[in-house]
Amino acid sequence: MQRFNFILLTFLILVVSSSCTKETFETSVQSPSKTNTFNFFLTENGTPMYTVSHGETMVIDTSDMGFEFKDQEAFSSGFKIVNTQLDQMDETWEMPWGEQRKVRNYYNGLLVQLEEEKAPNRKLDIHIKSYDDGVAFRYEFPEQEGRDSIIITEENTQFQLTEDYTTWWIPGDWDIYEHLYNTTKLSKVDATAKRNHPDLAATYIPENAVNTPVTMRGESGIHLTFHEANLTNYAGMTLKVDTINLGLTSGLVHSDRLGYAVKTSLPAVTPWRTIQIAEKAGDLIESRLIENLNEPNKLGDVSWFTPMKYAGIWWEMHLGLSTWDLEATQDMNTFATLGKKQVSVTHGATTENTKRYIDFAAANKLGGVLVEGWNTGWNYWIGFEDREGVFDFVTPYEDYDLDELSAYAKNKGVELIMHHETSAAPRTYEQQMDSAYQLMQKHGLHAVKSGYVGKIIPKGEYHHGQWMVNHYRKALEKAAEYKVAVNAHEPIKSTGLRRTLPNEISKEGLRGQEFNAWATDGGNPPEHLPIVAFTRMLAGPIDFTPGVFDISLPTKPDNQINTTLAQQLALYVVIYSPIQMACDLPQNYEGRPALQFIRDVGVDWEQTKVLNGEVGDFVTIAREERETGNWFIGGITDENERQITIDFDFLPENTNFKAAIYRDAEDAHYQTNPEALSIEQLEIKKGDTKTISLAPGGGFAISLIK
Ligand code: NOJ
Ligand code: CA
Repeated sequence: MQRFNFILLTFLILVVSSSCTKETFETSVQSPSKTNTFNFFLTENGTPMYTVSHGETMVIDTSDMGFEFKDQEAFSSGFKIVNTQLDQMDETWEMPWGEQRKVRNYYNGLLVQLEEEKAPNRKLDIHIKSYDDGVAFRYEFPEQEGRDSIIITEENTQFQLTEDYTTWWIPGDWDIYEHLYNTTKLSKVDATAKRNHPDLAATYIPENAVNTPVTMRGESGIHLTFHEANLTNYAGMTLKVDTINLGLTSGLVHSDRLGYAVKTSLPAVTPWRTIQIAEKAGDLIESRLIENLNEPNKLGDVSWFTPMKYAGIWWEMHLGLSTWDLEATQDMNTFATLGKKQVSVTHGATTENTKRYIDFAAANKLGGVLVEGWNTGWNYWIGFEDREGVFDFVTPYEDYDLDELSAYAKNKGVELIMHHETSAAPRTYEQQMDSAYQLMQKHGLHAVKSGYVGKIIPKGEYHHGQWMVNHYRKALEKAAEYKVAVNAHEPIKSTGLRRTLPNEISKEGLRGQEFNAWATDGGNPPEHLPIVAFTRMLAGPIDFTPGVFDISLPTKPDNQINTTLAQQLALYVVIYSPIQMACDLPQNYEGRPALQFIRDVGVDWEQTKVLNGEVGDFVTIAREERETGNWFIGGITDENERQITIDFDFLPENTNFKAAIYRDAEDAHYQTNPEALSIEQLEIKKGDTKTISLAPGGGFAISLIK
């Protein structure tokens, strides 16, 4: 940390206009460019409260802070100020891979130390950080006399809004984030109406709450995103919605088994409660506030993992063309609600089929091949209650030769990506973690996709509760010991932990591409990803698995991808992840000129610029590839066609780029003519502009090669 004592002193006098009387106290901390102000105060009865302003505008009005405990009185009032302390940070750190190489962490901080007036004089600290792109605060529980742990039954952090914001939200499900986004006024949020979605293997929405990140836009065009950072040894936070008074209140995921939300030894800290504040929607995507609120890299050199594109034995199972299990009973067609056409299918993960994918990857500059259904246990997967002890993460099926395949892949410059479907039986997985990661190490494999489909065993635990938060963390830490990077599906949401543990490479945690293969509600609508870019993507990298070329899904008459082919290409740039799948079947890419874009596009970025965008409508993102200096641009639209003009001003001076523009053909439409694509080759340099038409559900992708 860089400390400027002199500046700090001046700052103390100028910015902290504190008034400390017996009953009330007030102090504030402004962001470095004075864009955002966090104002903390104690009411006359000693209740901690705060407001947040952006410039002259109050964005969070008087809001409470407090806690309820299992075996002691709540924290709500009766506090006095013991001390306040300012801190300041201006550091720049490097992402080993990411949306950008360098990240500036620049804030003014304030620690407020409180103590109850009455015995037993319990203590509570509140740490606040004001950034130019938002504010954050967390609670810190210092050591207390006579108590070595606390049991939290609820956290009462309020966010009182000042108007009825347009809100992009998913329900506050305790088990899964795989919901479609809703666009309503805050006063019209009704999460409980979303209960019991037939396509979800586990879902629990106990109250009218939303999951984070949740993004809002106000009348003036101001955007707010509520989320949390550094979710460690704590329960995930939903936000309960007060539709009458237009407020949000933290709601922690509980353990029904244990009868509380969080148990922790003292001293302890909560995750950061974050509010990203932006005047333009695109600034939300450029904000690195969430990562900045996490601790620096604890793993050191992680160059054993390389960002990559990958193919895999995956889409064929979701289409119902092959199965995960050897006996060919567990295919998507047999799951009653998941598709109607019955076709005869066989096991997907055979040695022979895997070689076919490896050959395809090697021929198209894809670094990895994911193989699902390689191990025993799949015949007791979906629909089975007792899944404890079923999956085996070291024993391949008899038709899958792991030794031969890892050597075959290596020889072709490809790495197998391991797959661990835990079926939401984390205790079984924990028992095998060491041996499973050891097996990977032995074969030189550095990435695993994990999965948590189903209700958590033991009963009474939820995917987003403290017990599972700790499980997901344990998997990351254990995997790191064996130089393994993790891409979790059905995960706990990302909260910037990738800064501390960069082997957290990617996650699902949203309705991914798979829903387009079998969802009973028509699949992801065209507005889905233009919302995801400004909500879910603010949490961290997404394993969305783009790249479907056979858009109309001929073998699935009831399903379709609701984008054009050009949009599938755009997703490689729009959605950030250091691993990006080319998810379609190898035969569907054969002879398709659009494949050249997937071959060329980068996966690791020097810098990112959001060129334009509105939540739920459209977004255009340009990213500069590390090492090469090549640029790639992706733009997507919702169900509306539109024209986007790109100003290539962001390119470096005096450099000519060989450009290829992949865009919707004139008659393209996501419903009627999704694969109509036109490819234009030209030269582009700084100062040029180009107007591109996007079809309904369409998009475009541009490669700019030096
Ligand atoms: C759900 C994951 O999201 C999907 O990608 C995977 O194929 C299945 N689980 C099986 O593990
Ligand atoms: Ca999933």
